[in-house]
Amino acid sequence: MIKKVGIIGSGTMGSGIAQVAATAGCTVKLYDTSTEALQKAELALKKIMSRLVEKGRIDSDEKNRIESNISYVNSLKELGDSDLTIEAIVESLKIKKQVFQELEGYVSKRTIIASNTSSLSIASIAAALDKPSRCVGIHFFNPAPLMKLVEVIPSIQTSEKILQQSVATIKEWGKTVAVAKDTPGFIVNRVARPFYGESLRIYEEGIADFPTIDWALKSLGGFRMGPFELMDFIGNDVNYTVTETVFEAFYYDPRYKPSFTQKRFAEAGYLGRKSGKGYYDYTTDADNPTPTEDVALAHHIFDRVLVMLINEAADALFWNIASAEDIDNAMTKGVNYPKGLLAWADEKGIDWCVEKLDDLYNEYHEDRYRCSPILRKMKNEGKTFFNETN
Ligand code: NAI
Repeated sequence: MIKKVGIIGSGTMGSGIAQVAATAGCTVKLYDTSTEALQKAELALKKIMSRLVEKGRIDSDEKNRIESNISYVNSLKELGDSDLTIEAIVESLKIKKQVFQELEGYVSKRTIIASNTSSLSIASIAAALDKPSRCVGIHFFNPAPLMKLVEVIPSIQTSEKILQQSVATIKEWGKTVAVAKDTPGFIVNRVARPFYGESLRIYEEGIADFPTIDWALKSLGGFRMGPFELMDFIGNDVNYTVTETVFEAFYYDPRYKPSFTQKRFAEAGYLGRKSGKGYYDYTTDADNPTPTEDVALAHHIFDRVLVMLINEAADALFWNIASAEDIDNAMTKGVNYPKGLLAWADEKGIDWCVEKLDDLYNEYHEDRYRCSPILRKMKNEGKTFFNETN
């Protein structure tokens, strides 16, 4: 049973994870090298708690209980009595390894040492430890208290016991767990790539402009935000870096190729909401273009992006990155997709998916549009992802 939790790094993710663990009843020590970051985290938590009381979501006893479960510490040594530690510091392998090595000198033999990394391999971080079998990836989504999904990533060194304990703990914290293989982007950051990449490609080919593509995906697909709105929300710099990292990590598989449009936007400082300008203008009274509401065009755009997303999800299953259930849960609970992509494939029909992908492949003759072997096999065998004929 995990009772004492140590969190390393009190930034966006660390402070959110601390709130989740403290709400679930764990005692949490939140550590950061920066006193300013610790103070900021403490103030932010108090503000969030007060807002939850105002909204009637929790009472003041609950607020006090959660707040008193967290202490703010400026020495890593203080995390020595933790049952579980989760690291959420800067995304640098070198620094993470140094911190893990130091931490292992303070904690007990049974302590789980986890990383919240988005892009580094768990195997590479675990290799820093004397006992790498205790290391696991526990990947939350931003904001951690609100997003239901947590990806749990065992590396080739992780013991089965540590994996099971980690999964059980995260479930006790009220989260939905998707277990993912230690591969680039895990589930969500891999499967979501075409939402951005294919939309950018459609724009670059001159098929439609940003608002029309956004409108097509929202109105026909039921996505809460269109891809360009979402990239502006995430930040074009951040989103571009994830794409580039995944592309490199997949040995330059053309399916993940980044887009010049997004690179130029990032280079120009058109980062999105945070800079006031991205694909859209966020300054007051800005005159943003409106979509061309052409239904046939919208269907063309939506089908193309959706089938590329389905192909990516199917391929993740083909390569055993996660189970079909976990792949679908990851996308609905991690990035709020209106439906799981494999369930969506069943609904559209596997034949439809294969035909659409083959049409794209025949049009472009690019490896980017190759149909995942699993889809073609399922088509030939008349199978679906979820019903009993599978
Ligand atoms: P952040 O920049 O908000 O916070 C990082 C914190 O770590 C800072 O307060 C910094 O002072 C502290 N820190 C840096 N080096 C340290 C060290 N050696 N020892 C102790 N504290 C140290 O970063 P953020 O966004 O919270 O990301 C943290 C980790 O979580 C990264 O690995 C990132 O890839 C991952 N992540 C980020 C997500 C996001 O949307 N921001 C989503 C999921 C994972």
